[in-house]
Amino acid sequence: MRNVKMIVECKKCKSRYTINKNVFRGKSAKVRCTGCGFVFKVFLTSDDKRVSFTNRPPAKKQWANNVIAVSNQKGGVAKTSTCMNLGFSLSVMKKRVLMIDFDIQANLTQLIGCEHTSSFYDLIHSREKKIEDIIAPTRYKNLFLLPSSRNMMVLNKLFFGTVDYEYILKDKLAQVKDDYDYILIDTPPSIDFFTINALTAASLVVIPSQCDFFSIQGMDQLLGIIHMVKGKSNPCLETGILITMYDQKSEASKVVYDQIIDLHRKRVFKTRIEQDEMIKEAQLMSLPVIYYNKKSSSGLAYLNLARELLERKAA
Ligand SMILES: Nc1ncnc2c1ncn2[C@@H]1O[C@H](COP(=O)(O)OP(=O)(O)O)[C@@H](O)[C@H]1O
Ligand SMILES: [Mg+2]
Repeated sequence: MRNVKMIVECKKCKSRYTINKNVFRGKSAKVRCTGCGFVFKVFLTSDDKRVSFTNRPPAKKQWANNVIAVSNQKGGVAKTSTCMNLGFSLSVMKKRVLMIDFDIQANLTQLIGCEHTSSFYDLIHSREKKIEDIIAPTRYKNLFLLPSSRNMMVLNKLFFGTVDYEYILKDKLAQVKDDYDYILIDTPPSIDFFTINALTAASLVVIPSQCDFFSIQGMDQLLGIIHMVKGKSNPCLETGILITMYDQKSEASKVVYDQIIDLHRKRVFKTRIEQDEMIKEAQLMSLPVIYYNKKSSSGLAYLNLARELLERKAA
């Protein structure tokens, strides 16, 4: 049965909860904070995504290896660029990396120059196909890709909200997870079948974020969704915020950056990715930026991010 929830925040103590949509009579409902007892009104909002979770209990222990979802429901924040360049950086550090293109726009598949025709869609629709058959090598050593294709959009229509849909990717990955040191999942700019599956399979979600007003708003919404995923399908999910396309010359960027640090200090990666035209030039040639220019600021920053992740794992 669909179990539609929404996230509310206590106006007094700021604790966050998930509540069932069925408490609403009309457009508003009165709720009592279970932390401080404060009673307040919440409203159904049009931007509230109707994310549903089913009832399979989550695994008690997280997988030992690193599955990283790169996610933000805002488009153009460098999710795909981060997957490609972080994946490549980890691979040059001798880590075996699988990148999963879980966005029907298939930008990562195009960027890496993959001509493999099968995708996750084929894995779901063919009993004979195994996940190993879909994973393609790339032209780079240690770097592999599970490609995307346009027909994957059907999966959202067919499965979003059905019993245990959140675990479809995780269950498939169980067969290959030990073959890779890192698995990076590129997600679409929406909260849907793909994003909820990625957040359920991941041990860490990296949220690329620009330093502008809308990004802060979008981040709050995504953190709310992550809170729900932690409560339902993936209690051990960790969060890291990655500042991308930072413009040192922009006063507004500085103000927003300070705000993000104030609000989320512990979650923000030390590495910051600056605005860098090189990344666009590299993408025109379907190349990782550090491969295109070994002095590029963004290429060096993605190498630093890879080191930060390795240290995080070692700690
Ligand atoms: N550090 C950067 N500096 C300048 N442009 C960037 C940087 N990172 C990404 N871009 C550009 O921003 C655009 C959106 O990036 P993309 O990775 O496709 O975002 P998303 O996957 O979140 O939609 C692309 O044109 C990309 O080349
Ligand atoms: Mg993308």
